[in-house]
Amino acid sequence: SLPVPNVQELVKEDPLQVPDRYVRDQDDILQVNDMSWLSSEIPIIDLSLLSKGDKEELNKLDLACKEWGFFQVVNHGVAKKVLQDMKDATTEFFELPLEEKNKYAMPPDDIQGYGHAYVVSEDQTLDWSDALILVVYPAQYRKLKFWPSTPKGYKDIIEAYSKGVKDVGVELLRSFSTIMGMDQDALLGLHEELVQALRVNYYPECSRPDQVLGISPHSDTSTITILMQEHDKHGLQIKHNGGWVPVKPIPDALVVNVGDVIEILSNGKYKSIEHRAVTNESKERISYASFLVPRDDVEIEPLDHLVDSQSTQKMYKKVVYGEYLRSSMKRRMEGKAHTQMA
Ligand code: SIN
Ligand code: FE2
Repeated sequence: SLPVPNVQELVKEDPLQVPDRYVRDQDDILQVNDMSWLSSEIPIIDLSLLSKGDKEELNKLDLACKEWGFFQVVNHGVAKKVLQDMKDATTEFFELPLEEKNKYAMPPDDIQGYGHAYVVSEDQTLDWSDALILVVYPAQYRKLKFWPSTPKGYKDIIEAYSKGVKDVGVELLRSFSTIMGMDQDALLGLHEELVQALRVNYYPECSRPDQVLGISPHSDTSTITILMQEHDKHGLQIKHNGGWVPVKPIPDALVVNVGDVIEILSNGKYKSIEHRAVTNESKERISYASFLVPRDDVEIEPLDHLVDSQSTQKMYKKVVYGEYLRSSMKRRMEGKAHTQMA
């Protein structure tokens, strides 16, 4: 990854400046300001019902994954305080002077730490965001040198938040196993180890939100992604019926999306949907994405029983997850955002 300017600093130095390296083709940012889509809303799933095995809710989950690839989870059991502490401490972290944050700077050969992922070329159009990326589970995979010790207690707060998200993820993977016609522990078993990474996205305000993107369109290489957004700020948009639909924040809900692993396992029944983030003109926005993924050496391919029952062929080749991840990142850095397979 190449060193690029810190966007937060750039805005601090001159709030009106939008360097060319961030300016998108007009086609790329279509509909950034078109709020007419606000009327469509992604499905809402009640996790407390799912965990009781409620048939109707499982049915809703199945439909949500087929038709949207995205849904919001309510009654997920993560305490409000845990969510709020994460937001408060993170806001404080990003308010620290750059040199303080740079104590956790992402080295060029790593994808963890504070900085920018996915920057490889001088002429790549840049995203209007900074990020803090940490692997949180399994605990022995952590690189603690990247875990900020300011503000005080932040490490414990990240841990508590991630534990909450993990519990939600495990419960969801049980339900996914069920709707995919398996034993409820099947997906977890298939992962060997559930690996969880956190990516905190910081999108500074931008004087020209119509010219930039906070994060370019992409699909997630995860099994599922669990995202917390701030309740009063818009930013996330998902591809739906050919348009970009904003995901309207619901206070304390978590946004979940189907990642590439579920798309492959389900032989395309559930789709890993392209999404992006736009910026706000007067307010910064922070989002918290947790990626649940299998261990690197796990082989992923369409599940036999799903292929047979649909009497179709396998739409995806078998991949080793770690290799898939690396080749997707490479493709993404070359500007080919959406992963095509088979
Ligand atoms: C992401 O795709 O990781 C970012 C989503 C968001 O900021 O809402
Ligand atoms: Fe994403």
